[in-house]
Amino acid sequence: MAPTQHTSAAADLGLLVPVLFGHAAFQQLNAGCRLGLFDLLNAEGPLSAERISERLDLPPRSCDVLLLGTTALGLTAIDADGYRNGPPVAAAFGAGLWPVLRDIVEFQDRIAYLPAADYAESLRTGRNVGIRHFPGTTEDLYSRLSGVPGLEDLFYRCMHSWSRLSNPVLVAHPAFPQARRVLDVGGGDAVNAVALARAHPGLRVTVMDREGALAAARRTIGAAGLADRIATHAADIFAGVYPHGHDCVLFAHQLVIWSAEQNLALLRTAYEALPPGGAVLVFNAFADDDRTGPLYAALDNVYFSTLPFRDSTLYRWEECEGWLREAGFTDVRRTAGTGWTPHGVVSGRRPEH
Ligand SMILES: C[S@@+](CC[C@H](N)C(=O)[O-])C[C@H]1O[C@@H](n2cnc3c(N)ncnc32)[C@H](O)[C@@H]1O
Repeated sequence: MAPTQHTSAAADLGLLVPVLFGHAAFQQLNAGCRLGLFDLLNAEGPLSAERISERLDLPPRSCDVLLLGTTALGLTAIDADGYRNGPPVAAAFGAGLWPVLRDIVEFQDRIAYLPAADYAESLRTGRNVGIRHFPGTTEDLYSRLSGVPGLEDLFYRCMHSWSRLSNPVLVAHPAFPQARRVLDVGGGDAVNAVALARAHPGLRVTVMDREGALAAARRTIGAAGLADRIATHAADIFAGVYPHGHDCVLFAHQLVIWSAEQNLALLRTAYEALPPGGAVLVFNAFADDDRTGPLYAALDNVYFSTLPFRDSTLYRWEECEGWLREAGFTDVRRTAGTGWTPHGVVSGRRPEH
């Protein structure tokens, strides 16, 4: 074999390293969070390896292994002054998003990580096999949350952070100057309801969810001092009717859980609940229409395939737009976010006539 061919094969095979050790890459980030490395470097960096080992109370060998991992991944950096946080970690601290990112890492660690090992079996069977890690007999993750002490609180704390990170595109959506009353279907702990009510002073929101989620929602609403503008409504979102009196129905991180048929049913229920001219908004992460990415959606689909429900998927924009049209909505548009996650909003209107 010619030397150039050999070199090129080695270079190509080298592309496997972050994939082959993907689980290990996550654990470097996870350990850096859990052991307090990034917090320490943010507060006191740059620091030598010896000082880090003392301050984190880690054996020197452990500290060296961790610092090699985080530095090779760009999570930390070293120069003549010592170790400091690398660009993604420093950016999270700089933007005030470090607590949000830590929650997201904890979500991956305590909720998504073990079930991800059931990915191939989930694909083979077409079922969310990873749900076996959470006790219960129901088929969706949400109805199993209350079966493990502390899990519901953990889930909503982390879900709150996912939404806080990604909801600027929702909060700034052009539907809001017009909308007066929003029905937030499966609104969880009211994280989006609170963000919307804060940004749009005349807006009222009803958060509809399971009773377990609404306990968390009432805490969020109370802490925000918005009980006069955000109500809660306990109901099964598949029961077939939504409360009337809203001119906007929001599905936030909701249509990623269910099958195309179920999503169509939910959108038809929303259509019936809306007055002519009323808006529907679908907010979540989307996959590209050309099926090439983005990487975030491609990898997050491991969580969606293994855990929430049998058909959970980060769908393509065009799939979601098709459901809205099929349910009767017109003026169907997409609004992509500008953050590092592929979140966006697909919106439509119930026709006036
Ligand atoms: C992924 S969370 C999204 C929460 C919130 N919308 C957000 O974006 O942060 C999905 C929510 O849908 C709720 N949900 C799932 N199935 C439901 C059902 N059949 N009836 C009512 N709520 C449901 C769950 O309880 C959970 O709060």
